[in-house]
Amino acid sequence: MRITIRDIQKMKAAGEIIPMLTAYDATSAFLAEQAGVPMLLVGDSMGMVVQGHESTIPVTLDHIIYHSQIVVRSTSKALVVGDMPFMSYKASIEQAMQNAARLMQESGVGAIKVEGGEYIAPTIDRMVQAGIPVMAHIGLTPQSVNQFGGFRVQGKDKDTAEQLMCDAQAVQDAGAFAVVLELVPTQLAQEITNRLKIPTIGIGAGPHTSGQVQVFHDLLGLFPSFGPRHSKQYANAGQVVQDALTAYVNEVKGAQFPTAENSSTMSDEILDEIRRLWR
Ligand code: KIV
Repeated sequence: MRITIRDIQKMKAAGEIIPMLTAYDATSAFLAEQAGVPMLLVGDSMGMVVQGHESTIPVTLDHIIYHSQIVVRSTSKALVVGDMPFMSYKASIEQAMQNAARLMQESGVGAIKVEGGEYIAPTIDRMVQAGIPVMAHIGLTPQSVNQFGGFRVQGKDKDTAEQLMCDAQAVQDAGAFAVVLELVPTQLAQEITNRLKIPTIGIGAGPHTSGQVQVFHDLLGLFPSFGPRHSKQYANAGQVVQDALTAYVNEVKGAQFPTAENSSTMSDEILDEIRRLWR
């Protein structure tokens, strides 16, 4: 039985902190679920860590559906949340409904995520009415990076902090089951978390949110030269993998791999027959 949005909400009510992680493929999904991650996000961060872009903007709905299908197929317990990509839900409520329905029907995710606060609340409301569980995402919303002029902390001054409080309230009132707070000052994130009933899931929002979300590749140090301040490298997997691959290349070049242990043999009798055939 998969974890549901109600189970996630019960975790907040019970004071249990909620770990969330991105996953994009069978390996990341399997490993994260085995580690006990209850909620996986097929994030549009795939634009950067999987597709090699500089932002999330080139990611399409088809990409998210494809990777969500893989993550759903490779897990059995985790709640899988599919990220609605850039401009797949902001042109109109109808567009949002059709695309959210496609993501749920074609991939099997248990919920979707949209970026935006007050102005997207009517869309969230319609989706929730239609039976689509929605996670909201406020603060630094990467799909608006060009509008923000970079990946900066949001809500540091009175006006923007107030707007973020309104955004949080609006998405809760619209029926979102949880809200991501990205790059928000610790105190503001704590204030929002205390005021909301729904869980807040922080990334770069300090330790007082109901849960934390991180990008799989950042946590594992898969890009050795890149580590955003809001993440922590729990492993130096990039270096480990790099060393292993270098060893492989060297062993192949030096004829040390494969050995008899990695190979199979056939009977001399059959070999002789084959040789005769080729003569
Ligand atoms: O796409 C993503 O990975 C995200 C998280 C950073 C919240 O939106």
